[in-house]
Amino acid sequence: MARETFYITTPIYYVNDLPHIGHIYTTVVADTIARYKRMRGFDVRFLTGTDEHGQKMERSARARGVEPKALADEVVRRYHELWRRLEITHDDFIRTTDARHRAGVHAMIARMQAGGDIYKGSYEGWYCSGCEAFFPETQLVNGTCPDQGHPVERLQEESYFFRLSAYQEPLLAFYREHPEFIRPATRYNEVVRFVEGGLKDLSISRATISWGIPWPGDPEHVVYVWLDALTNYISALGFGSGDTELYERYWPAALHLVGKDILRFHCVYWPAFLMSAGLPLPRQVFGHGWWLRDERKMSKSLGNVVRPDALIERFGPDAVRYFLLREMTFGQDASFSDEGFLARYNADLANGLGNAASRVLAMARRYGDGRTPVEACDDSVLRTKAGEIVGRWRETMDAFEFHRALEAVWELLAAVDAYVNEKAPWAIAKAEGVSSPRLQHVLYNCLESLRLAAVMVSPVMPAMSARLLAQLGAAEGGALEWGGLATSRPLGEEGALFPRADVEAYFAEVKVDENKPVQPATPVPAVGGAPAPTPAPAPQAVAAEPIGIDEFARVKLVVGTVKTAERVPKSKKLVRLEVDLGEPALRQIVGGIGDRYQPEQLLGRQIVVVANLKPAVLMGVESRGMLLAASLDGAPFLLAPDGEVPPGTGVK
Ligand code: MSP
Repeated sequence: MARETFYITTPIYYVNDLPHIGHIYTTVVADTIARYKRMRGFDVRFLTGTDEHGQKMERSARARGVEPKALADEVVRRYHELWRRLEITHDDFIRTTDARHRAGVHAMIARMQAGGDIYKGSYEGWYCSGCEAFFPETQLVNGTCPDQGHPVERLQEESYFFRLSAYQEPLLAFYREHPEFIRPATRYNEVVRFVEGGLKDLSISRATISWGIPWPGDPEHVVYVWLDALTNYISALGFGSGDTELYERYWPAALHLVGKDILRFHCVYWPAFLMSAGLPLPRQVFGHGWWLRDERKMSKSLGNVVRPDALIERFGPDAVRYFLLREMTFGQDASFSDEGFLARYNADLANGLGNAASRVLAMARRYGDGRTPVEACDDSVLRTKAGEIVGRWRETMDAFEFHRALEAVWELLAAVDAYVNEKAPWAIAKAEGVSSPRLQHVLYNCLESLRLAAVMVSPVMPAMSARLLAQLGAAEGGALEWGGLATSRPLGEEGALFPRADVEAYFAEVKVDENKPVQPATPVPAVGGAPAPTPAPAPQAVAAEPIGIDEFARVKLVVGTVKTAERVPKSKKLVRLEVDLGEPALRQIVGGIGDRYQPEQLLGRQIVVVANLKPAVLMGVESRGMLLAASLDGAPFLLAPDGEVPPGTGVK
């Protein structure tokens, strides 16, 4: 019998910016669900991709002096790289610049036209290129877009329109009949209220921009970016390209996963387009919450966007995936903070999981000759507990309550710990010898519980799960039934799953980053290997409040010559310099530049230093000043005078 299919999608990401943790969240959740559904035997198809057309993209590329496609290619490369590092198991990656996608969009428009829902008219109204959306005057808030507060501009142009107004009643009837279509329930209510408020026809072409899919038969127009983008979910299945096998097999989608900001496009426009085209509607759209940074909205202009690269580099992909799923109640907002991340990492991963595993494995090695116990054990409190936890884990995973599913697994780990304390295997070994059946049973119960825990966390932390299973001498992909651990099998290699994070070292380095001048707007990726052109200055990226010249003059900037340089022990980034500032003694300055500069490269080099900064202690080393560097995507580029000057020369 054919297996039940499960087609899951992420939104397709805009390519005018590099991904931050809000973007990776949607994809990590989708990957977790895809892995879980595969475990449960579904025939899964998992799609992600990029949204490359539109005014925002055209403008970004123009500002950087590159072609939109070249900019897109470079950002897409970064996305591929990131998904590889995060072990994302998508089956396909669609780009809206793909030929197959254009064919799908044209086929979609042809069907909507055949349904009599498209007509030509003239559009006059407000357009927000940040959201790529039109807004009636009545919806503007203080002259800006009501969704994100972006600036809007007045547009007056000829346009094709979609008769969205005709779909108000059919949509409301559909929502009533399919209350599960929009999740969570609070979002369902929001969408219903929005549609009840009335729907206006929608302008679905643009005549004043050229970066888009040409309107079929009217190349003066390009297709409105949201009609273009939403169609990706079927064009990626071959809709419009002739081969309909994937489309027949996987459409309608089981789940479109989106952030709450784009729920309306998915729950109102998309189903209306599909109704008009006479195509089946997706089964569910889930609108998740937003990641904040330290309780504030993340934005480039505030300079507080959390990029995932450094976290993955330092803590590994599994820790990042775990944090995202454990910290956010799916559907609600959550806040990222360095403190929160480190606390969870150390408490849950290094201590909770890591200690439970190393404690049990060390005993198994000691009392079992490096092998799994000689006999399985079927009768224990742990078995009952594990059975209950597996049931709860399934229920919560099915309901997308990932934080609760993970909580359940940690409850099992705590139960293993308590069981070890109570049974005291070391005492049994002493009293009865290592071949005591009682001892072997106790060890089996612990190892088997850990195996079940490893299988349960595998959708969230695939690499860690594989590693733990190997340490336990268990096969990957084992069943979630008690007794799966084979007896008398060699245990795998030893090794900590998650080394404890040194919080002090982390903050010392983060602090160094924060001491640097405010970052410019998101760096422009280098295209075709050429050095990145300087991004157009983003006005808000500079401190919001202007300062007077007298205030600026209080900062004493001088040129110094580096005399000695060495790495600060145990730190990846920190370098200790002794710098000649033209003073009687050399100045010791600690800078977070070690990931881009080797100490020997710095000797003799001239740098610019803030000479009157209060001393600070970074990882136990006093720094009496701060060196200046441009910060591109977190990487430092040292500033220097354009020709040698005597040490101590002032900078104005
Ligand atoms: N291109 C459109 C989607 C088209 S889908 C047919 C788009 N792209 S986006 O790059 O701006 O956003 C992609 C996803 O990232 C959205 O689901 C959005 O909600 C999500 N996030 C962007 N910032 C976010 C947070 N700070 N937190 C969580 N998710 C957020 O919209």
